[in-house]
Amino acid sequence: MVSSFTKKIGLKGKVVGIDLLEVAPIKGIDFIQGDFMQEEILNEMVDKLENKPVDLVISDMAPNISGIKMVDQQKAIYLNELAFDFASKHLKQNGCFLVKSFVGKILKSLLKI
Ligand SMILES: C[S@@+](CC[C@H](N)C(=O)[O-])C[C@H]1O[C@@H](n2cnc3c(N)ncnc32)[C@H](O)[C@@H]1O
Repeated sequence: MVSSFTKKIGLKGKVVGIDLLEVAPIKGIDFIQGDFMQEEILNEMVDKLENKPVDLVISDMAPNISGIKMVDQQKAIYLNELAFDFASKHLKQNGCFLVKSFVGKILKSLLKI
């Protein structure tokens, strides 16, 4: 039987996710618990993707909020930049990059890249 998830990603489709926190298993998703800032974790992800270019990179990574706006925004933008860097290296031509960010002055500089 073909699940609705398989219908969306296709029989050969692959989804790989990373988070610092444990995530309950989701059928069809390859998950790595680790820090996206660590090279070995990124290498693990690239291995799972069989070093093939990807259609879509989505990042919803966000830091724990300290309440200090500038600090939180700087940390969020840094995670955005890491995700952007990953997307620039691993997206297919005309692939999509979707990222959540914190609106503010620093975001403007990221949008200019
Ligand atoms: C806004 S939450 C995402 C929530 C998730 N999309 C959901 O709907 O449940 C931000 C996530 O980014 C993760 N995160 C923050 N820094 C990270 C990092 N360096 N590497 C991997 N994940 C990170 C956090 O652990 C947290 O789960």
